Amino acid sequence: MHSSQFPAMYAEIAVALAAGLLSWAYQTIKPPLPKICGSPGGPPITSPRVKLSDGRHLAYREMGVPKEEAKNKIIVIHGFDDSKNLSLPVSQETIEELSIYFLFFDRAGYGESDPYPSRSVKSEAYDIQELADQLQIGSKFYVIGMSMGAYPVYGCLKYIPHRLSGASLVVPFVHYWWPSLPANISKQGFQKLCTADQRTFQVAHHTPGYSTGG
Ligand SMILES: *[C@@H]1O[C@H](CO)[C@@H](O)[C@H](O)[C@H]1NC(C)=O
Ligand SMILES: *[C@@H]1O[C@H](CO)[C@@H](O)[C@H](O)[C@H]1NC(C)=O
Repeated sequence: MHSSQFPAMYAEIAVALAAGLLSWAYQTIKPPLPKICGSPGGPPITSPRVKLSDGRHLAYREMGVPKEEAKNKIIVIHGFDDSKNLSLPVSQETIEELSIYFLFFDRAGYGESDPYPSRSVKSEAYDIQELADQLQIGSKFYVIGMSMGAYPVYGCLKYIPHRLSGASLVVPFVHYWWPSLPANISKQGFQKLCTADQRTFQVAHHTPGYSTGG
């Protein structure tokens, strides 16, 4: 063997080792595949679900006056780390007096609804519309978004406004740089956030391509 071949051989071995190490590191840090509800080895399905036109399932929970009789239909959109099981502080008296039918659902990727990694503000709005139509709750309904569940409400206002009787936000995350809000109110609200949240909003605001601030 010619002596000049040795360095090349070592380089090859080094490359092979590095590749092996990288693929091992990747395997180690790669999150495990999600266990889909109802699939073999996955958690069981315990709630009613609808099947969307793209094949995904959404789990839901109904409450209040039966939808056939109710005068007001309200779809409740849960926040981060929550589900359709959230408890709404509303009395039976109020439900009957206002004749309300509540529809809760697990957003894509939560609870017993299938994951949808490419979900977006738009897809969440259309998920809500399809859920409403499959359950035949009527042409118009209210939406209430809690916390991080606010952004699907923004989606509904933009993409399916003709389906809404009204929209409400409960402790929503806010766009503190929205020009339509008086600057002094935005500033006051922002200063009320804890420092960690302020930093999160700053980062989101200054990240290229995410100009919405949240
Ligand atoms: C919601 O409640 C149902 C019925 O009690 C339960 O089977 C389900 O696991 C709960 N979902 C979550 C995400 O906690
Ligand atoms: C914000 O400014 C407007 C007009 O400049 C004023 O009327 C309003 O009271 C201010 N609001 C707060 C919360 O400071």
